[in-house]
Amino acid sequence: MPKIISGTKMHICERVNYFLFVSILLLLWLCLNAQAPATQMQAGGIADPRLDARVESLLRKMTLEEKIGQLVQYSAGQQTGPGTGRTDYEDMIAKGQIGALFNISTAKETNAYQHIAVEKSRLHIPLVFGLDVIHGFRTEFPIPLGLASTWDPALVENAARIAAQEASATGIRWTFSPMVDIARDARWGRITEGAGEDPFLGSEMAAAYVRGYQGQRLDAPDSIAACAKHYVGYGAAEGGRDYNSTEISEHTLRQFYLPPFHAAVNAGAATIMSAFNTINGVPASANPFTLTQVLRKEWGFRGVVDSDYGSVGELVAHGIANDDATAARKGLLAGVDMDMASSLYHDHLADLVKSGQVPQAHLDEAVRRVLRVKFALGLFEHPYADEARESGAMLHPDSIELARTAAERSFVLLKNSPGPSNAPLLPLSNAVRDIALIGPLADDPANMLGSWGGLGRAEEVISLRAALAKRIGEQHVIYAKGAGIRDAADEDLNAAVAAAGKADLAILALGEDAGWMTGEAASRTNLGLPGRQQELLEKVVAAGKPVVLILFSGRPLTLPWAFEHVPAVLEAWYPGIQAGTALVRTLFGDSGPSGKLVVSWPRVVGQEPLYYNALSTGRPADKYDLTRPPQNSDEKYVSRYIDEVNSPQFPFGYGLSYTTFGYGPVSVSSKQLSAATLNKGLNANTPALTAEAEICNCTFVCEEPAWLSRYAR
Ligand code: NOJ
Repeated sequence: MPKIISGTKMHICERVNYFLFVSILLLLWLCLNAQAPATQMQAGGIADPRLDARVESLLRKMTLEEKIGQLVQYSAGQQTGPGTGRTDYEDMIAKGQIGALFNISTAKETNAYQHIAVEKSRLHIPLVFGLDVIHGFRTEFPIPLGLASTWDPALVENAARIAAQEASATGIRWTFSPMVDIARDARWGRITEGAGEDPFLGSEMAAAYVRGYQGQRLDAPDSIAACAKHYVGYGAAEGGRDYNSTEISEHTLRQFYLPPFHAAVNAGAATIMSAFNTINGVPASANPFTLTQVLRKEWGFRGVVDSDYGSVGELVAHGIANDDATAARKGLLAGVDMDMASSLYHDHLADLVKSGQVPQAHLDEAVRRVLRVKFALGLFEHPYADEARESGAMLHPDSIELARTAAERSFVLLKNSPGPSNAPLLPLSNAVRDIALIGPLADDPANMLGSWGGLGRAEEVISLRAALAKRIGEQHVIYAKGAGIRDAADEDLNAAVAAAGKADLAILALGEDAGWMTGEAASRTNLGLPGRQQELLEKVVAAGKPVVLILFSGRPLTLPWAFEHVPAVLEAWYPGIQAGTALVRTLFGDSGPSGKLVVSWPRVVGQEPLYYNALSTGRPADKYDLTRPPQNSDEKYVSRYIDEVNSPQFPFGYGLSYTTFGYGPVSVSSKQLSAATLNKGLNANTPALTAEAEICNCTFVCEEPAWLSRYAR
């Protein structure tokens, strides 16, 4: 060691300096070449070293065209983005020009394509089939925002496991889930697909999905590869407008937007999807900092980066590539291994490699990653789906039971004020006889499946109307649709009011159209009830009967009138196939609502983006009465609105239940708050409750906002 520096004896200070220097170099090297996380290296993981020899041996046999083929992916079924104009997939597969297909979903279809790949292509490399299996495959669970509202990673993991078991039975071995984008703006339609605004909860959920999808080993026949998306910052779209640019400081990126992805990588996620947006001017799908520096060098990610749908092609529209060939080059060199749907890798990589613009070694590395995932999934040994297993894998009674439990735990009770008997209106008494069931979502099974309904079938969904009729008898349900989601006729509104008049109580099921108004390409500037639903609500309330409002939405809705005038409001999100059963059990108190908000609920759209873990400003407004316009310069020159309070309608973590809580005695240390007496209103049916939460950094408000760092249900 010291001898390397000089042949003479080193002075003690020199030695210390030398060791320091070497340590720093070592540290730097480690930082720049992080080891893959253990979950990736273990047997059955994507970076299991035992796969390497097989990968290398296959790679050596491949022609340039065959290598490029492994990086090419097309949608061969229902489109989930713009088309490419290509349909000659069978021919391309036989020539080894396609590595993955997505959007097909039956064993018969996947097997048909797989036979071509395995039997007709020169090297017999199997395809991997992907699909957006987002919150269930056939057994649809609540939308991810609802699942996150359970605050229960174990439940989410189990739901993902069931989704994997069902999807894999059709040959789908890759899901484009979990979506782990932090979302602070309810205008963004895709807030519905994630776990909300908190990086800690988001990370817990991200890891839970990955564990559930990938199981113990990726090569188990019922495991599917996860894809954490959309890397990164997609949820920060300016103005909440989908696909829009983002400006995110490195601090905010690392503190808020990256952690859920890091958690997914650490949990062993096989793939990551690069996003559509730009980050500080550089598209996420051509961003060497996020894709190579952070993901590969700092986190040691060994899996595949897949582009989002056409996002390599979109580099031209972003203006960082003048033509398609440049887009392909920039995408690949930045770290996007596989091109979803734009066809630019197919069209241009061969020339780019031949001309030296893309180094052969770089291409090889991307191909290795794809092959490694295919080997890890066991596709070479078991390329085909067992068509006999397919139907038997769906909708197991236990799966349906979990879908119901998940739905019940996802509901967030927003308001529950006294009804006629002076007790909170919910839960309903079994003595209630006639109920007017009103609203466009009361009997709308398809909408219960959310915006990514997977293979969920409307006919397998229990609607609110069906479940209520089963509970109280069809003759006691006075059903009146009242309005469509987006429009209504006067006669229908009047019929609903008449129905309310005849009943003891009215339940209104209002909200958004899941497919059109939530999810991708569904940003809204107005977060009220669409169409004439607000009018319907006000008219029914005016009929004078107690009203329970159930909201079906993929985001918080700004409904100040409802929160003031309607006694009971339950946010149901889109609950999945067991929607009606779960809702009726909750309405009648067989199950207590225990969901808590994972996003701050705005009063008005103008408050967005709105999130709890915001930095303190130099002019905080907390000590002023913000419910009235400022009266003097002290009140005016602070960080506030002159026409609205700063606080949300309901804060992050909010959600009522049917019990009451007390705290005490409370002991507070610098880190922890604990209370001996929770659960004042326990009865025999209420499970014992423990609540723990830890909030960090409250004392360092100048440097960092407070954030959640631990919780338990
Ligand atoms: C585009 C979406 O952004 C992404 O989430 C999805 O996985 C792909 N389309 C494939 O459908």
